[in-house]
Amino acid sequence: MAAPRTEGAEEMLSGSEPGAAPYGNFPNYSRFHPPEGRVRLLPPALLRRLFPAGPSPLLGLDVGCNSGELSVALYRHLLGLQENEASPDQPVVGKILNLLCCDIDAALIERAERCSPFPGSISYATLDVMDAGARELFLSSYLSRFSRSTFDIGFCMSVTMWIHLNHGDDGLVEFLTYLSSRCNYLLIEPQPWKCYRAAARRLRKLGRNDFDHFRSLAINGDMAERVTQILTEDGAMELVCCFGSTSWDRSLLLFKSNRLTQKQL
Ligand SMILES: C[S@@+](CC[C@H](N)C(=O)[O-])C[C@H]1O[C@@H](n2cnc3c(N)ncnc32)[C@H](O)[C@@H]1O
Repeated sequence: MAAPRTEGAEEMLSGSEPGAAPYGNFPNYSRFHPPEGRVRLLPPALLRRLFPAGPSPLLGLDVGCNSGELSVALYRHLLGLQENEASPDQPVVGKILNLLCCDIDAALIERAERCSPFPGSISYATLDVMDAGARELFLSSYLSRFSRSTFDIGFCMSVTMWIHLNHGDDGLVEFLTYLSSRCNYLLIEPQPWKCYRAAARRLRKLGRNDFDHFRSLAINGDMAERVTQILTEDGAMELVCCFGSTSWDRSLLLFKSNRLTQKQL
């Protein structure tokens, strides 16, 4: 039976040493925030709707994929594959998706690769997305294999808080600006502010200092609203819709880049 999901559910995630997951790199994350709780909020025909005559293959980027459970669930859901279908050869939605998933934690990536049911279509890489040089080199070289400069869709699920706590306001803004420059559509699940307080409390219980930036964050409060402001205020993206909230109170927000016209998308 799933553990009760509370504000502090993540405290249980990393067992005896919760502070050992300073990036949110919990080894059993999907047990506590199951992928189904997110994907069920998304229309199964989303890819067909967003890309009626889109490029093939579609290119997706999952930032902060952990051990890949949500990446695989998103892949199946968006392509209309059943749980027992191991082949994406005949995707129900008539789309082919290549999904590149990255995480800062090499052990999580190793597990994701070992367990991947779609090694030909989902690839994994260890990458610190806040390392601008490594990020640019790696993502540009991936995209250039398809003669592309942007991903059709990016996924950033339960990652913004960790970037924000570890890199401050400037880091969060830089991160979101980068994603908006590289993704034509962007699906984001920001953690609400109460999760920040819980993460800081967790650290204090261990007798450690707060995250470097926690007390000085000027971007705070309604984080879904703040993230929307950052992505839309310079006109880079527009909010397409909110697909609702998970049972653990996180919104799923879909943004679209204003760089390209609808026709080009
Ligand atoms: C709470 S987990 C979310 C996992 C998955 N996206 C989900 O929603 O099920 C946050 C993930 O972001 C990753 N992460 C945090 N900072 C990162 C960074 N700078 N670069 C890449 N991954 C990062 C962590 O290692 C962790 O696996």
